[in-house]
Amino acid sequence: MRKNSVFIETYGCQMNLADTEVVLSILAANGYDVANDIQSADVVLINTCSIRENAEQRIYGRLGNLKRYKEKNKNMVVGVLGCMAERLRKDLVEDKKIVDMVVGPDEYRRLPEFIDMAFDGEKGIGVRLSRVETYDDIMPFREDGLQAWISVMRGCDKFCTFCVVPFTRGRERSRSLRSIVNEVKELSARGFREITLLGQNVNSYQEGDSDFADLLSACAQVDHSMRFRFSTSHPQDISEKLLRTIAEHKNLCNYIHLPVQAGSNRILDLMNRTYTIEHYLTIIDKAREIIPGVSFSTDIISGFPTETWEDHLATLDVMQKVRYDGAYMFKYSPREGTKAYKMEDDVPEEVKGKRLQEIIDLQHKISFEVNQELIDKEEIVLVEGLSKKSDKFFAGRTDSNKMVIFPLNDYVVRGDYVKVKITRATTATLFGDFIEITEKYMHNELKTA
Ligand code: 5AD
Ligand code: SF4
Repeated sequence: MRKNSVFIETYGCQMNLADTEVVLSILAANGYDVANDIQSADVVLINTCSIRENAEQRIYGRLGNLKRYKEKNKNMVVGVLGCMAERLRKDLVEDKKIVDMVVGPDEYRRLPEFIDMAFDGEKGIGVRLSRVETYDDIMPFREDGLQAWISVMRGCDKFCTFCVVPFTRGRERSRSLRSIVNEVKELSARGFREITLLGQNVNSYQEGDSDFADLLSACAQVDHSMRFRFSTSHPQDISEKLLRTIAEHKNLCNYIHLPVQAGSNRILDLMNRTYTIEHYLTIIDKAREIIPGVSFSTDIISGFPTETWEDHLATLDVMQKVRYDGAYMFKYSPREGTKAYKMEDDVPEEVKGKRLQEIIDLQHKISFEVNQELIDKEEIVLVEGLSKKSDKFFAGRTDSNKMVIFPLNDYVVRGDYVKVKITRATTATLFGDFIEITEKYMHNELKTA
């Protein structure tokens, strides 16, 4: 008998990408094949994001598109997973006839059951949130490659007043350190070279006596030729121990994504971010003192309720003080059910747009300047392959996640760490000359042979 096949489209953050791999693993264990395209799939799943209104609008548009596939293949099952499933629940199956099932982030183990129900013509809804589910025992389904992510904790207890995540992903819970380290070992044996540890708030990782610094340190020791990143950090939970751990291990990237959200203490308080801008800047100073050369990226929201021109200037000011390598910048989007939703969304759309543009322009200027400072410096680059724009160049990333392009040569292969001298820089890319290979890529089995 032909196996059923599944196709998944993923929207939103890296957590969703990691969840999609868990979903594929659960379905593969239940006899499903992965389809290469929608046309040949029996089951089409959309893993969704609710973080801002425009994310949801995009997904509604996509569900509209799927109609024509379902008209051709009447037996096709369409399921909505992730944050929108959790937020909208039965409204989704009622409003969108094309949707056969709605399954939230903590109910993926029951997917085979919901899919069977859908094949029988019943509309399944599974949206219970769990205090314990971490999918700890499930080895995510991954294609071979250099880069992988590992989800280390789920949910968020911070309740920033603008954010829907605590409602769609539930309470914080951590995976066991042992199973994470085992996953790292497996990825190392398969030849992966870079791992990003993921969670909505990785710094509140806690398992027994082990905190996030302990976890990072345990991962770093598995394979010194693998490098590690992590995301996302809340300023409240960044400890000195964590900073020292990053400094101690060469293969922990000197790069911290530390969302600031806003520069005004009044707005930070309304956002329930639990720090002042002075405290935030102290963390940045301390990190720079403990980890020489560390760089930062951030998230910024423009136009939060009651934001004045002075508040906006305070955001520009903190950007200038920190000089982030990069930033994700957004217009405030009211989310139903959050505390901020009850505040009046009183910054006019046009003003939000103008302020956001100023923030984006300033960040571009800073990124450009920060990159110019790297000219004539040497950077270690993990080679990812040929440049997308030209097969006469290699492309790879620095420890601070910057793309580096350098001319092709006969000695380097994908997966090597190489030293490159930077000769030119734009806002987003560095260009340089190859100096030497610092660590040659070898599959681990070969290394130990
Ligand atoms: N409006 C705009 N941006 C938001 N974010 C979270 N919620 C909202 C919202 N309601 C941003 C924050 C967060 C990032 C993942 O998305 O900056 O850090
Ligand atoms: Fe949302 Fe704040 Fe939690 Fe980040 S820390 S997921 S912004 S509530």
